[in-house]
Amino acid sequence: MANIKFFSGKTTPIEMHRVRIIQKLNLLPIEERQAAIKQAGNNTFLLKNADVFLDMLTDSGVNAMSNDQLAAMSQADDSYAGSATFYRLEKALQHVFEMEYFLPAHQGRACEHVLSKTFVKKGQVVPMNYHFTTSKAHITELGGEILEIPVKDAFEMTSTCPFKGNMDIDALKKVIAERGKEGIAYVRMEAGTNLIGGQPFSLENLLAVSKICRASGIPLVQDVSLLSDNLHFIKQREASCKDKSIHEIAKAMAAASDIIYFSGRKLGFARGGGICTGNKQYYLDIRGFIPLYEGFLTYGGMSVREMEALAVGMYETLDEDVISQGPQFIEFMTNELIKHNVPVVTPPGGLGCHLNARDFLPHLPQTQYTAGALASALYIISGVRGMERGTMSEQRNEDGTEPLAHMELVRLALPRRVFTMSQIVYAVDRINWLYQNRNLVGGLQWLDEPKILRFFYGTLEPIGDWQQKLAAKFKKDFGDSL
Ligand SMILES: Cc1ncc(COP(=O)(O)O)c(C=O)c1O
Repeated sequence: MANIKFFSGKTTPIEMHRVRIIQKLNLLPIEERQAAIKQAGNNTFLLKNADVFLDMLTDSGVNAMSNDQLAAMSQADDSYAGSATFYRLEKALQHVFEMEYFLPAHQGRACEHVLSKTFVKKGQVVPMNYHFTTSKAHITELGGEILEIPVKDAFEMTSTCPFKGNMDIDALKKVIAERGKEGIAYVRMEAGTNLIGGQPFSLENLLAVSKICRASGIPLVQDVSLLSDNLHFIKQREASCKDKSIHEIAKAMAAASDIIYFSGRKLGFARGGGICTGNKQYYLDIRGFIPLYEGFLTYGGMSVREMEALAVGMYETLDEDVISQGPQFIEFMTNELIKHNVPVVTPPGGLGCHLNARDFLPHLPQTQYTAGALASALYIISGVRGMERGTMSEQRNEDGTEPLAHMELVRLALPRRVFTMSQIVYAVDRINWLYQNRNLVGGLQWLDEPKILRFFYGTLEPIGDWQQKLAAKFKKDFGDSL
C-alpha cells in the first residue's frame, strides 16, 4: 500500500489512479426524489439509475475498469468452443490460485446453483461463517439448510475484532460431531462476509477450518467474491502475514480450500463468475452442469469481452495499491461518520460503509423494516442510493412468521475506483443531517411481497406521512439547494 505522508499530519487516502472516462451525474430536486422513491415502492433496487446521484447500492458489476482491461476487451475471441479468451482467463486464474481446473459461469449465483446441485442433498447442512442471500436460497431450494457459526464478535456492531468474519472453530467441531460427514454437504467460508459489513476472516482461521474439514473428509468451499478486500485486511491486520505478498496470501487461501468460486462482478472488476478446484473428481462432478445451465465449457454464459477484462482484473487484484483503495475510502467515510456520532459498523470492513439502522432509528421496530426505511429516507434527502441489508433481505418463514435479521444495516457500497473524495464528503454531510433529523423517519409496510428474494423486487409504502414531513424539513434547512 502506497505510504504517502502529508505535511499537515492529516492522512487522507489518495487515489493511485486517475480518471479518464467519466459519466455525467444527475441530482434531482427533492420533490422529484420523493416521487421516484414512491414509484420504486420504497425499494432502492427499483429506482432508475437516472434518478440516482451517488449509486452506493452495490459494488457488483459497477467497479471502474482500468485502461488495460478496456484494451484487453478488444482482443476477445468469440468462438463458441476453444476460444483463446477462455485460455487467457484460465491462465490468469491458475496463476493467482494455482488450482488446475476452471469452470466458467455467468455470475456468482450461477456458481452457487451448480455447486448446490452437485453437493447438496435434502436434509444436509452447510455450515458457514455467514450466509449470502443467493448462497442460502440455492441451498434451501434443494432441501438443505444452512448453519451460521461465526465468532461472537460477528454480531457486535461496534467491535475492535479485526476478523469478525472468522468461523467459530468449536462450533464447527460440534456440528461435525453431531451431523457426521454424511450430514454435511460442504463447509462454506465467505471471504469478506457481505451481509455483516464486509468483515474479513484471517488466514489463521481459514487454515484451522481447512484442517478440520480435511481430517473429516468434508469439502471446504470458499466464496472469494470479496477476496480483494479480505486480502488487504489479512495483509494489514494479521501480524504473521505482514511480510507476505498479496499473491502469497491468495495462494495460501486457495491451497486451504477444495473449491473456490467467485462473482466476477466483484472480484476482477468486471462481470462473470467461475469455479476453480485442484480436485479432478470435483471438477468432473460439477462439469456437466455448466453446459446444461450456463453455456459451453469455454464461456459458461459470460461475454468473451468481459472474460478478457476479468483476466486482467485478476492480475490487478494482486496489486496492493489497487485493492487497498476501496477499504481505505470506506475507513475514511466510516471515521468521518463516527465524528458526527452516526452509528456505523466497526471496524470498517470492505465493500462499503455500513450504517447501523437499529441505533440510527431506535424508535422503529424491525417489523417495520428499519434498514429499508433508512435507505428510503437517505435517498429522499440526498439522492444517495444504498441497500437494505436486514429483515427485508430475509426470506419469510414457511409458517408466515418474519425472521428478524441479526442486523439492520444500510450498506453504502463504494464500488472500486469509482467515487471521488468530494462525493464521499457530500454523502457524509447528508447522512449527518439525516441523523440529526432521525425522529422524522417512520416505518414501511409491504404493498407487494414476493415469496422468493423479496428484497429485489418487492414494493413497500411508508406508514403514515413521514416522508412529506422529512422533505419539508429538508426544504426548511436547505432552501433551494438540491
Ligand atoms: C459474497 C457473495 N457471494 C455471491 C454473490 C453472488 O454473486 P452474483 O451477484 O454475481 O450472482 C455475491 C454478490 O453480491 C456476494 O457478495
